[in-house]
Formats: sequence, C-alpha cells, structure tokens
Amino acid sequence: MPAASRRLEGRRALITGAATGIGAAIAERFAAEGAKVLVTARSEEAGRAVCARINDGSGQAAFFPLDVCEEAQGQAAVAACVEMLGGIDALVTSAGVGAHPEQAPSPRAVCDATLEQFGHVLDVNLTGTFIAAREAARSMVATGTAGTMVFVSSVAAKRPTGGAYAVSKAGVWMLARCLAEELGPHGIRVNAVGPGFVRTRLLEERALRSVDPEGDHDLAEAWLAARAAALPLRRLGTTDDVASAAVFLTSAESAYLTGSILHPDGGLVSSTAGG
Ligand SMILES: NC(=O)c1ccc[n+]([C@@H]2O[C@H](COP(=O)([O-])OP(=O)(O)OC[C@H]3O[C@@H](n4cnc5c(N)ncnc54)[C@H](O)[C@@H]3O)[C@@H](O)[C@H]2O)c1
Repeated sequence: MPAASRRLEGRRALITGAATGIGAAIAERFAAEGAKVLVTARSEEAGRAVCARINDGSGQAAFFPLDVCEEAQGQAAVAACVEMLGGIDALVTSAGVGAHPEQAPSPRAVCDATLEQFGHVLDVNLTGTFIAAREAARSMVATGTAGTMVFVSSVAAKRPTGGAYAVSKAGVWMLARCLAEELGPHGIRVNAVGPGFVRTRLLEERALRSVDPEGDHDLAEAWLAARAAALPLRRLGTTDDVASAAVFLTSAESAYLTGSILHPDGGLVSSTAGG
C-alpha cells in the first residue's frame, strides 16, 4: 500500500461489496487516507473483519449489512451512514458478480444464458449500483453536500467478450455518465473505474471456469499467466492498483473530472479496445 497522505480527511464514505477483494482494499485505503468508512457487505463476519483491521490501525470503520439488490436495504444503508458517520460524502460501489454461478456450458456467452441468469448479473452489477447511487444522491442533494461517487465498472464495459457481465459493466459506466450530468449542478461528481485483470476470488473463479468445468487449478494458473503476459505492463493488477484510482477519483485532486472512466488495467483497454 502506498504511503497515505490523508487526501480523504474527514470524508464519510459508504462502500458496497467491501468484505473482500477490491471493495475491501478500497475501504482500507480510504480509511488510511483519513475517511470514516461504512463497510457494507452481505457477510457480517467478513465485513466486521475488514472493520477490525481498519479500527486496529489508525482508521475508523463501522459495519452495516447490505445486499445491493434489496432496495430497502440500500435505503437503510445510506440512512445508517448518515446516522453512524454523520453524513455521506462519498460512495464507492464494488459489489458485483462475474457470471451466474450455474450458467453453462459457457458462463459468459449471451446465448447460453437463461432469462434468470442474465437478469441476475444485471440485478447485482447494474441495478444494485443504481439503488445505492440514487439513495446517496438524494441524501447529498438534500444536505447540499458536494460529494463524489465511484462505480467499479470494468474493461468489459468496452470489450464485448463477457456476455451479461460486459452488458452490465457498460451500463454501470453509462449510469455514471447520466448521474454526472444530473448531479453536476449540485457539485456532485460521478466517475467509474474500469479495472482489467485483478487477482481476486472473482477472477480466480473466472479462470477456473474458462479452462475446465472440473476446475483444474494448474490450467487456471496458466490461463492467468497468459493474460498477464499479453498486457503492456506484463502483470496482473492488484486490489491496491484499483484502490489508488478510487482514492484519486474521490479526492480533490480530481476536482474537474466527472462522467469519466479510469482504467487501472496495465494497458489492456489501450492495446485492445481503442483506449
Ligand atoms: N477482479 C477483477 O479482475 C475485476 C476486473 C474488473 C472489475 N471487477 C469488479 O470489481 C468488483 C469487485 O470484485 P472483486 O474482483 O473484488 O471480487 P470479489 O468477489 O472479491 O468481490 C465482489 C464482492 O461483491 C459481493 N457481492 C456479490 N453480490 C452481492 C450482493 N447482491 N450484495 C452485496 N454484495 C454482493 C461479494 O460477496 C464480494 O464480496 C466487482 O464489481 C467486479 O465486477 C473485478
């Protein structure tokens, strides 16, 4: 983790999907940069473990349970952020799924998806982002807070290789642009980050399902190594690479950016999807 320079001092941030992977890294980096963090997740045990790591250091974090697909829970989470942290200045949405767990034979082919499988990915990744963003926006506008939002999209927003996942992540990016337009006059900035291949549970599951339905770990490692070798920077991303982009898009250093997508992707979009 890079040395913190307290760029988010005093900010009150709600983070979805914050119990694991990119969301957990963002929660920890935000706290290290001086933000008070509401860690939200479906798993209370995992979410509280992230809070404990933050609170055992010099940070401040609280937990609130949130399944992003449940509208009432989204409303309650924003209300809890206001009550527990005194308001909401920053939202980061990281909760997401790569594919429906039972889609077969290809988990990422549009034509192999049932209506329920396609809808599940859209529900979590896109509608879940919408619910959290709408609730945060209503609170920020009502209190005259010049807040920020960062949605975790993906390089898949620009690459038609991921079926429902790519559709959902393109939607997330467009949602950021629509909200940037709507909320700009209130001083609220909305941007997206579009990571490439970041070594988390989500990517490891994708690697396993891509190579072999039986889940051969050696083949999955070879698949990951091949992805890394094809990138201009020749390595997979880390959760901290993405957290750095989220800190930047939340800090005053990005004061004139809204409606943008920033790609911590080792050069993937630049080299394969037109920049
Ligand atoms: N890992 C990558 O290579 C990569 C690349 C681009 C984008 N992303 C995006 O990054 C985000 C985080 O993924 P990750 O890679 O850290 O994997 P991850 O599996 O560790 O994190 C995803 C989190 O979302 C949570 N989640 C799933 N459904 C939820 C729901 N209904 N309500 C609340 N939480 C829910 C999971 O429990 C998990 O904690 C996702 O949106 C993913 O699409 C990841």
